[in-house]
Amino acid sequence: MKTPFPSSLLPSILLALLYLTPSQGSDLTCESPDHGSTLKVMHVYSPCSPFRPSKSLSWEDTVLDMAAKDEARLSYLSSLVAAKSVVPIASGRQIIQSPTYIVRAQIGTPPQTMLMALDTSSDAAWIPCDGCVGCSSNLFSSSQSTTYKTLGCQAPQCNQVPNPTCAGTACSFNLTYGSSSIAANVSQDTITLAMDAVPNYSFGCIQKATGTSVPPQGLLGLGRGPISLLSQTQTLYQSTFSYCLPNFKSLNFSGSLRLGPVGQPIRIKYTPLLKNPRRSSLYYVNMVGIRVGRKIVDIPPSALAFNTTTGAGTIFDSGTVFTRLVAPAYNAVRDEFRRRIKGGGIVSSLGGFDTCYSVPIVAPTITLMFTGMNVTLPVDNILIHSTAGSITCLAMASAPDNVNSVLNVIANMQQQNHRVLFDVPNSRLGVAREPCTR
Ligand SMILES: *[C@@H]1O[C@H](CO)[C@@H](O)[C@H](O)[C@H]1NC(C)=O
Ligand SMILES: *[C@@H]1O[C@H](CO)[C@@H](O)[C@H](O)[C@H]1NC(C)=O
Ligand SMILES: *[C@@H]1O[C@H](CO)[C@@H](O)[C@H](O)[C@H]1NC(C)=O
Ligand SMILES: *[C@@H]1O[C@H](CO)[C@@H](O)[C@H](O)[C@H]1NC(C)=O
Ligand SMILES: *[C@@H]1O[C@H](CO)[C@@H](O)[C@H](O)[C@H]1NC(C)=O
Ligand SMILES: *[C@@H]1O[C@H](CO)[C@@H](O)[C@H](O)[C@H]1NC(C)=O
Repeated sequence: MKTPFPSSLLPSILLALLYLTPSQGSDLTCESPDHGSTLKVMHVYSPCSPFRPSKSLSWEDTVLDMAAKDEARLSYLSSLVAAKSVVPIASGRQIIQSPTYIVRAQIGTPPQTMLMALDTSSDAAWIPCDGCVGCSSNLFSSSQSTTYKTLGCQAPQCNQVPNPTCAGTACSFNLTYGSSSIAANVSQDTITLAMDAVPNYSFGCIQKATGTSVPPQGLLGLGRGPISLLSQTQTLYQSTFSYCLPNFKSLNFSGSLRLGPVGQPIRIKYTPLLKNPRRSSLYYVNMVGIRVGRKIVDIPPSALAFNTTTGAGTIFDSGTVFTRLVAPAYNAVRDEFRRRIKGGGIVSSLGGFDTCYSVPIVAPTITLMFTGMNVTLPVDNILIHSTAGSITCLAMASAPDNVNSVLNVIANMQQQNHRVLFDVPNSRLGVAREPCTR
């Protein structure tokens, strides 16, 4: 069995450390309010994030940490696709147990601030609440909110959560997320996103958590299923949102989450969204091919085909860091990529990345080809490298072979500095290049 990204495989010869030193004292900018219907999106490593590591991480540790968390992410996504839970993969490296991108939300009356993780592949929102066993600090104090209520078993929302149970009259549910499981009450309170207050918003109020995948201050599901933010704010946001995710190396930069149709880009290329009724929350698209430089690489159509029965196909996901392609697709891309690196350099591996160079390289662009839309990724979205330039890796990998590997996941590293628009009413997803400055 392949063990992706084990720390022991680090080729120590290649270690050239880039220290990510979070700058201190930028609190004023960190506290700057969100405007209109647009929320600031921060990377967890940004100076404004309380989840950033207390000590600086080396470049390798940063990358390997993110890649390790991807393993849990991929088993979660595969479990959605397979409609059965997959035994989670022990990821080994859990330096920081937090999601990749966070936004600030206010819950309750008076409002309590929570930094919630963005997740386009989850429907429900959940928040760690007072009384929670196994949650980290910073709980939402439901007793301090005058608008908080728990929902009863008769509430329609009780049928929309996974595995609902009734304790007395209160509705609760259990859920597996990555390597974690949670038990939560189905509750309602006002949630305020930027300037928009959403009264009686239904969410999971976490009462018990195990494992290390639960985002410390909750999760904001941006999926399109029944209990999602989109379905609960239908009149306000019309199931439309976009985000621009900042590069994880540009620590000062923040991106944005723009909710609703107002202010969305006009000049943007679209591809149709596909709907898998069995996996209603996932944003499937039809990827028809991949170009490396000018060459369309040879990928068997079955590696890309959308199939509602098996869950196969391609999704856009905000929570996975590095794009994963099923083996026949990844191998074709990687082989052509290697062929295109002039002057060679030594190909080596770094953890689970198998195409790394110890000399500066000139990389070809990679174009993801979708129905109606080609997205040519600039080098910043393809390569990870130390600022010294001493190690450069192709920032993609093969889907892990120990989970149900049918899904191609376009991950957040490949979406950074692009605006990605989810237009559910018109059933389309748009992508336009955009530097995510604040
Ligand atoms: C969750 O539900 C249980 C059982 O009804 C109840 O005892 C507990 O107080 C609730 N907690 C919150 C925060 O809603
Ligand atoms: C949900 O989790 C609780 C607490 O861990 C447990 O007592 C209960 O049996 C679980 N219910 C289901 C349906 O798995
Ligand atoms: C929210 O719920 C409360 C009590 O259940 C109800 O009185 C109120 O009308 C609801 N507000 C909205 C905007 O639906
Ligand atoms: C980040 O912010 C710090 C402090 O505000 C500043 O000194 C530094 O130049 C900024 N770096 C970038 C890349 O903008
Ligand atoms: C989907 O996969 C199933 C199982 O492998 C197969 O029988 C079916 O023909 C596929 N459907 C399409 C439309 O390709
Ligand atoms: C995408 O690129 C391919 C190959 O270069 C080209 O044939 C196709 O027309 C392009 N599609 C769009 C929508 O531009």
